[in-house]
Amino acid sequence: MKILLLGSGGREHALAWKMLQSPHCTKLYVAPGNAGTAAVAENVNINPLDFEEVKRFVLGNAVEMVIVGPEDPLVNGITDFFKSDEELTKIPVIGPSKTGAQLEGSKEFAKKFLIKHNIPTAAYSSFTKETVEQGCDFLATLKPPYVLKADGLAAGKGVLILNDIEEAKQELRNMLVDEKFGQASTKVVIEEFLDGIELSCFVLIDGSSYKLLPMAKDYKRIGEGDTGLNTGGMGAVSPVPFADAEFIKKIEERIVKPTVNGLKQDDIDYKGFIFIGLIKVGNDPYVIEYNVRMGDPETEVVMPRIKSDIVALFMAVAEGKLEEKELVIDERSATTIMAVSGGYPEDYEKGKVISGLDEVKDSIVFHAGTKLQNGSVVTNGGRVLAVTSYGNDFREAIKKSYQNLALLNFDKIYYRKDIGFDL
Ligand code: AMP
Ligand code: GLY
Repeated sequence: MKILLLGSGGREHALAWKMLQSPHCTKLYVAPGNAGTAAVAENVNINPLDFEEVKRFVLGNAVEMVIVGPEDPLVNGITDFFKSDEELTKIPVIGPSKTGAQLEGSKEFAKKFLIKHNIPTAAYSSFTKETVEQGCDFLATLKPPYVLKADGLAAGKGVLILNDIEEAKQELRNMLVDEKFGQASTKVVIEEFLDGIELSCFVLIDGSSYKLLPMAKDYKRIGEGDTGLNTGGMGAVSPVPFADAEFIKKIEERIVKPTVNGLKQDDIDYKGFIFIGLIKVGNDPYVIEYNVRMGDPETEVVMPRIKSDIVALFMAVAEGKLEEKELVIDERSATTIMAVSGGYPEDYEKGKVISGLDEVKDSIVFHAGTKLQNGSVVTNGGRVLAVTSYGNDFREAIKKSYQNLALLNFDKIYYRKDIGFDL
């Protein structure tokens, strides 16, 4: 079958790598892709948010399935666009409907869903420009730190955690009155602070049944020891050593099942991945957020641990027959370390030639922000390469990734040397 994958990051390269192992995948297009996907599939220069252009390509090339990597096409309704178009309606899209994507697109929608379905999460209240003073009064009833979340998509920057009450009130006003995050902060969710360790849970859903994919932990801060600015993710580990069978059972019973059943109960059309951001408080899991896609760089460790045919699983998702499929997981650990451009997550330069790619042995290099330029692979983003390795435990896998990272180079390359330090 001919498949179109939308997106251009490390997540998409890892999905492409996995899909190409399937005998069902006879041709893979990636739009727009990167230098890594260009080496294994065919990149097409299409903006995933231009649905008419996607349609033209799908019909013109007899594409039989579409996999959506990032959240924005989903939040903008690509699945509904396909469903409601006579020529596209039979072509399955792996990714939820616009309403389903609101679980990521609106923090308030997600909180309402969580509370309605009795899924453990931080207590909250939400406010608008009109109720900003009530918001300040509400803050005064809480203990620090204060958690403020812009309701809409804010490119991962919309969450503020503040220790000082006056600063929290000021930021609340900045968000609501001065639209600090534009449209995204016309509503703000104020949340109880949860103190614990985070992990990422991934689930593939066919509308009624689900498969629980391997858990992962990512490292979001730029600096060693989890310090400095937040990034998209600097590395990941799967499985998660502190998530034992008993804890995973709690996640499945208290969070995954009520989520899948809640979607069904609320008549929300959801076929695709859901990424549940969790925090372990004491020995109990709480939901921090939903994302309606896979995580990045978590995909770079989750896909390598799935032994089953991912395209066969996608086909089962489309047909609502996921229950009939078996999911086999590799017992080994997988880790990934992200090499980023100097300066990231603030300003950085692009177009630096990457060397050493051919020297890597016993690791998989997933490209994140790269492109081909005059026959060379050059940097094209903040996060550039994710180096994934297997090991009998996470330490062995991490060691291999670091050995191979030492062979890779580009001007101002940076990566954290301490991934896994806290495990
Ligand atoms: P989110 O975009 O909702 O995932 O929030 C970004 C980050 O803020 C999370 O990964 C957490 O590290 C932190 N965070 C969000 N909500 C809370 C909370 N209620 N308590 C503690 N930390 C939080
Ligand atoms: N690594 C976190 C994310 O993909 O949102």
